[in-house]
Amino acid sequence: MGVGAGLVAGGCASVTGAAPAAGSGVANMKTAPLQTVRVGFIGVGARGSGHVGDYLKLDGVEVKAICDIHEPAAAAAKARAEKAGKPAPELYTKGPEDYRRMLERTDLDMVVIATPWELHAPQAVAAMKAGKHAFTEVPAALTVDECWELVDTSERTRRHCMMLENVCYGREELMVLNMCRMGVFGDLLHGEASYIHELRGQMNQVERGTGSWRTLHYAKRNGNLYPTHGLGPVAQYMSINRGDRFDYLSSVASPALGRAAFAKAKFPPDHKWNRIATWNCGDMNTTIVKTALGRSLMIQWDETSPRPYSRLNLIQGTKGTFAGFPNRLAIEGKTPNTHAWVEGDALKPYFEEFDHPLWKRMSEAAKGGGHGGMDFIMNWRIAYCLRNGEPLDQDVYDAASWSVIGPLSEKSVANRSASVDVPDFTRGRWKTTPPLGIVS
Ligand SMILES: NC(=O)c1ccc[n+]([C@@H]2O[C@H](COP(=O)([O-])OP(=O)(O)OC[C@H]3O[C@@H](n4cnc5c(N)ncnc54)[C@H](O)[C@@H]3O)[C@@H](O)[C@H]2O)c1
Repeated sequence: MGVGAGLVAGGCASVTGAAPAAGSGVANMKTAPLQTVRVGFIGVGARGSGHVGDYLKLDGVEVKAICDIHEPAAAAAKARAEKAGKPAPELYTKGPEDYRRMLERTDLDMVVIATPWELHAPQAVAAMKAGKHAFTEVPAALTVDECWELVDTSERTRRHCMMLENVCYGREELMVLNMCRMGVFGDLLHGEASYIHELRGQMNQVERGTGSWRTLHYAKRNGNLYPTHGLGPVAQYMSINRGDRFDYLSSVASPALGRAAFAKAKFPPDHKWNRIATWNCGDMNTTIVKTALGRSLMIQWDETSPRPYSRLNLIQGTKGTFAGFPNRLAIEGKTPNTHAWVEGDALKPYFEEFDHPLWKRMSEAAKGGGHGGMDFIMNWRIAYCLRNGEPLDQDVYDAASWSVIGPLSEKSVANRSASVDVPDFTRGRWKTTPPLGIVS
């Protein structure tokens, strides 16, 4: 259903002060079906190379071009294509701006961007302006202005801009979305989302790799720098941008101790990590959000502390609650007792009853895929939607409103946790855009 065009703009001006984009909305935007989806990649390091592997497996997809400033990474991706018996993609390795030369190609439908964070928005904007659908790794943008630029560009160019929030395609997340749509939890009240993942070891990547560039963000900034993994699914449960929206937030940070301690313990005194005078980013950030419908949401982020992995993945309604890590469920009239969780093996019948149709259809094919299969299902689904001219499951409004928690949490932390308004990137269309459906 193409509901984007013709909806009434809400009249909420861009916080950049610029006039709202002239284009109509892109929620549920359909584009002409593509018999073959021709893909280019910018950044094929740890993450991008995994995406290349997925797209090489997909029917009706051609991997045409690969750009990376690190020639060996690009060459490895090319070798992977050849090993898979596919035509060799053309390589673009002539420096940080060479992706623009790749974008001049007329035989690319979409571009997958898996570069360091600060490059996502500029590269996605350039891709859309060159007529390609843009698929960017998380977070999609680092500033409020960049979020608006993504929205404005997607609306003006009528190109998709999707953030690759793979966690939305996890088994539990899809099942809980299904349960929310079935009304199992009643009216939704509260959610909890996090990315708690001890990644101090990435600091061992000094010259290249994730640690070499992410570490500098922890030194400079202070907020929730990586909000979207836990948040994306919970935002979908709550139909954010499709019936509700984030209204305002407040954020608090713990002391920043873990990175400095790790540097001192693991590296010589004159090492570049030990020459960082101040580590600004609080090890644990806690941000609370109020939605337009009055629901509450807690988002946490900690990639530093010695603490077991969690995305929290909690949704609470008037009839019940699901919580993740470990999975737990309590539903009035369905589980034996709402004062105690159903967990472990006792959850099996609930998975059988509520597993999402997309998971049921794709879990076998996704076996062995990255992050428990969610990466493959996401990439399969993108190719499916483009080949069939279907709207994507995540749009530019999701990319902007999930990513903007980063810069807005920084603003709140810097101002004694003062409440900060979250822009309405949909310009009022959240009121009329239908919730994300269940794909059968
Ligand atoms: N969704 C997930 O589960 C998940 C998992 C890991 C990483 N990520 C995200 O993926 C992105 C990439 O992370 P990574 O771990 O692969 O980092 P990485 O450092 O391993 O890879 C980044 C690649 O980008 C290349 N690059 C840098 N500047 C470039 C430019 N101007 N043009 C072309 N290539 C350029 C680098 O040479 C490198 O090969 C990050 O945004 C990260 O947060 C997401």
